[in-house]
Amino acid sequence: MALVMLLLIVAVATAAAVPAELPRLEQSPKADGSLTILAVGDWGRHGEFNQSRVATQMGIVGEKMDVDFIISTGDNFYSDGLTGVDDKAFEDSFTGIYTAKSLHKPWYTVLGNHDYRGDALAQISPVLKKVDSRWICMKSFVVNAEIADFFFVDTTPFVVKYWTDPKNSTYDWRGVAPRDTYIANLLKEMEAALMRSTAPWKIVVGHHTIRTAGKHGDTQELVQLLLPMLKVLHIQLVRPA
Ligand SMILES: *[C@@H]1O[C@H](CO)[C@@H](O)[C@H](O)[C@H]1NC(C)=O
Ligand SMILES: *[C@@H]1O[C@H](CO)[C@@H](O)[C@H](O)[C@H]1NC(C)=O
Repeated sequence: MALVMLLLIVAVATAAAVPAELPRLEQSPKADGSLTILAVGDWGRHGEFNQSRVATQMGIVGEKMDVDFIISTGDNFYSDGLTGVDDKAFEDSFTGIYTAKSLHKPWYTVLGNHDYRGDALAQISPVLKKVDSRWICMKSFVVNAEIADFFFVDTTPFVVKYWTDPKNSTYDWRGVAPRDTYIANLLKEMEAALMRSTAPWKIVVGHHTIRTAGKHGDTQELVQLLLPMLKVLHIQLVRPA
C-alpha cells in the first residue's frame, strides 16, 4: 500500500512538471514555400471610425498579394468585447465588414484587453467558428506554417493594472484567475513550444507591445516576464506597435 501511494505521488509530481501543450494548428504555405500575411488589430467598431474603409483596402491589398491568412492582434470588438456568442457585433464588426473574397482566409486571432471586458469565453467558443469558419480565436496557441511558426500569446492577464485597478471595467478572468498560476503555466507552455519549433522563423504575436514608441509605452510585465525568454531563444520578431 505504501509503495503504491509512493508510486502515485511520483506519477502526479511528474505529470505536474510537464507543461500542457499549447494547441497547434497547421497552415499550408504557398507552393513555393512562401507566405503572405495581413495583420490587423484594434478594429471592431461596427464599420465606424473608418473600419469599413480599412476593410475595403485590406480586400484590395489582400487580392494583389494573394494573402494566405490574416492575423488579428486583439481588441476585436469595442468597447467591451462581445456580450455572448449571439452578440450581433460579431456580424456587424467582422462577418459583414471583411467581405472581400481575398479576406476569406483563416483569421488567427488573440484577445485584447477590451475583449476581456466582455464575455471573453464567447470569442474563443467554437460556436463562432460555426457562424464564420474564418474565425480561429484562442487564448494562446501555435500556428505552424512551415517556413515560420507563429506563437500567439494571451498578453492581457500579464498587465497588473487590469487586476488591481480595473476602473469602471469588469474583466472576465474565468479560466485565468489566479494570475500567477496562469502566467507561470503559460510561460512554461510557450517556452516548450518555442524550443520544440524547428521553423526558420519564429514570430510571436500578442496584443500588448513589449517595446514601442507608441503612447501606451512598453508593457513592463512583458519586458520582465516574456522578453528574457525570447532573447535567450533568439526570437526574431514580435508584434510591431
Ligand atoms: C475617417 O477618415 C476620414 C478621411 O481620412 C477622416 O476625415 C475622418 O475623420 C475619419 N473618421 C473617423 C471617425 O475617424
Ligand atoms: C466611471 O464611471 C463614472 C460614472 O458613470 C464616470 O463619471 C467616470 O468618468 C468613469 N470613469 C472612467 C475612467 O471611465
